[in-house]
Amino acid sequence: MTRIFGHRGASGYAPENTLESFALAAQQNAEGVELDVQLSRDGEVVVIHDETIDRTSDHQGRVMFHTLEELKSFNFNNHNPDYPFCAIPTLREVFELLKPTPLMINVELKTGIFPYPGIEEKVISLVEEFGMEDRIIYSSFNHYSVAKIRQVKPEAYCGMLHTDCFIDMAHYAREHQMNALHPAFWLLADQNYVSQARDYGLDINSWTINEDEYIDAALRLGINVLITNYPDRALEIRDHLIESGQIR
Ligand code: G3P
Ligand code: MG
Repeated sequence: MTRIFGHRGASGYAPENTLESFALAAQQNAEGVELDVQLSRDGEVVVIHDETIDRTSDHQGRVMFHTLEELKSFNFNNHNPDYPFCAIPTLREVFELLKPTPLMINVELKTGIFPYPGIEEKVISLVEEFGMEDRIIYSSFNHYSVAKIRQVKPEAYCGMLHTDCFIDMAHYAREHQMNALHPAFWLLADQNYVSQARDYGLDINSWTINEDEYIDAALRLGINVLITNYPDRALEIRDHLIESGQIR
């Protein structure tokens, strides 16, 4: 059965990549969350999507130019008046929140623009400290980053993110010992893409699937993980398809 993950939490409702958003995804019975990690100036693993804090906070500048203490004093409510103040979470705080739940966590290493040397080791040691190895999916658009995870932690579950149509993507991912492909959802329209991934024994964990018709189509394809800003809606559509015998 396709598992439903909240993209940056339940970010269709709550400010993205905040504890509030992850708690809401858990409350909506999502089976996992996806989140993005970068390093603060003082080397803390923080959860944020953009390389700058301009869009989602009330301050400006690069994430890497601010200490955790500075970042913690800013409001990351994404200008959403329903949430007067949201702090930027550290990855540790997300693990503390979600450890008692059954949720999986897809940690996306945001190393495509700034490589953040050492971030892979920091994330792995945090996962080990919490004993959450079997609940983590590592992914990145920077394939060197997931190759590094594979090298440091051979048994980790790793996937390659991509948005473009590469020739022999499944072959390439397998060559680098990946467990999964993490394609943008429009790549699923190509039947060959899906069948090649299956032939190579790769899971398909796709994003960001928000429209009902695309959620429905992805569920019928039987992808492994569906990443959406609206986990509640995806779960409702999945329940309907199962109850009506259209998927298993
Ligand atoms: O991990 C899936 C998705 O989050 C990748 O794109 O830009 O939303 O982080 P982005
Ligand atoms: Mg992401």
